[in-house]
Amino acid sequence: MGTTVFLKPNINFGDIMTKLWGGRFSKGTHKLVEKFTNSIHFDYKLAKYDVLGSLAHIDILKKAKLLNVREHKKIQSALKAILKTIENETFKIDLSFEDIHSYIQHLVEIKTGKAGLKLHTCRSRNDQVALDVKAYTLDNLFYTQKNIEHLIESLEKLATKNRELIIPGFTHLQHAIPVSIIEYFSAYIQMLSRDHQRLYNAAMNIDLTLGAGALAGTFIPAGYYQHKNSSFLMDIEPTKNSLDAVSDRDFIIESLNTLATIGMHLSRLAEDMILWSTQEFDFINIDDAFCTGSSLMPQKKNPDVLELVRGYSGRLFGNLTNVLTMMKGLPLSYNRDMQLDKEPLFDSFEIVQKELAVLTELFKNVEFKKENIEIQLEDESLYATDLSDYLVQNGVAFKDAHKIIGHLIQHKLANTVKIKNMSDSELKKFHPTLNERIVNKIINPKTSINSKKSLKK
Ligand code: ARG
Repeated sequence: MGTTVFLKPNINFGDIMTKLWGGRFSKGTHKLVEKFTNSIHFDYKLAKYDVLGSLAHIDILKKAKLLNVREHKKIQSALKAILKTIENETFKIDLSFEDIHSYIQHLVEIKTGKAGLKLHTCRSRNDQVALDVKAYTLDNLFYTQKNIEHLIESLEKLATKNRELIIPGFTHLQHAIPVSIIEYFSAYIQMLSRDHQRLYNAAMNIDLTLGAGALAGTFIPAGYYQHKNSSFLMDIEPTKNSLDAVSDRDFIIESLNTLATIGMHLSRLAEDMILWSTQEFDFINIDDAFCTGSSLMPQKKNPDVLELVRGYSGRLFGNLTNVLTMMKGLPLSYNRDMQLDKEPLFDSFEIVQKELAVLTELFKNVEFKKENIEIQLEDESLYATDLSDYLVQNGVAFKDAHKIIGHLIQHKLANTVKIKNMSDSELKKFHPTLNERIVNKIINPKTSINSKKSLKK
């Protein structure tokens, strides 16, 4: 298989052949240690970035005259062939390897023989893994941005379709003041737009570098590491500080922080929709295709998608805490602990991308139950602030106006009367400027919405 170069004659062939190291060991690794330390079962997701990184690396080696044209060509064709299998999804992973980096090195050796043995020149997996994860992160930050754009579009469409709709606004989950559905969804669009910017900011803080070696740099001059025209979203630069380059995971923490924030926003959106779809609210109907049933209760139609979106936020916060805790107190530079950064990172990207995709479709299929919403809007307490605003605009001090309308609401509740049905003389007892015509004008969702002038259009 062309890999015997890693072996010492006295070492069990099967144990050590797949590793990038082994020369100084007099025994093969214990099976339990292999199982415990291997990462290929999750870092295979870096395969594409690892190959692209190696393609850049061999260009650097060629420039530095560490690979001749023929060797470069041979390794390049092998890497390109591997890349093709990754892209067309025929790439097979051998889980007996330590990690994806060792496996790809091995594949190159099989394809190129002796030339492949030079691939890892002036390179350590410490530097390689940092580049791979950064490239993965960049791709996924931009992909998640696209997902966010789609959800924003879906929310905008739903809001525009129902642009005349007014709903009760809530604070403390109690009726507060009416709000338009446009204003309501635009609140979530604001959150998602900030998230979109956060993803961009996280991407802008990433620099793709090579040349750190294991931790101290390599003998190749920095200029050779200036690598343009790579297939990455950014050019590769020479490493500014080799210790930092192999041990920095800020970009992962920043991405996880942003993903946790997105998850928090989506969980709030999900919770509002869960409430709105209850029998008690009954503001919306979620399409059957986006709900699930009960194995026992035949009548049930449950908003499980939204509940999972709400629930996944726990995992997203956990993944951030996980990596922060793993990094805390690690001495410079690379430590194997850092291998554990990948599962939470991949998990959070995958969760958020799935959530954004399913919510984009779900919102295309939400119907508002306008009659039920209108019944809720008849609650006169929703207009108490508008009534007090009216008094203020007629010269009453705010604190007095607040008290007067408070008494009016108390009277209404105690006597189960509608303010709209009170006579002029009854109303005037509360304040001389109040009368039937005025309160009937004010206690109206449209009037309430139109009276708000402070918002920037
Ligand atoms: N799989 C390892 C990781 O993800 C690669 C780096 C191993 N480096 C080392 N010095 N053992 O971190």
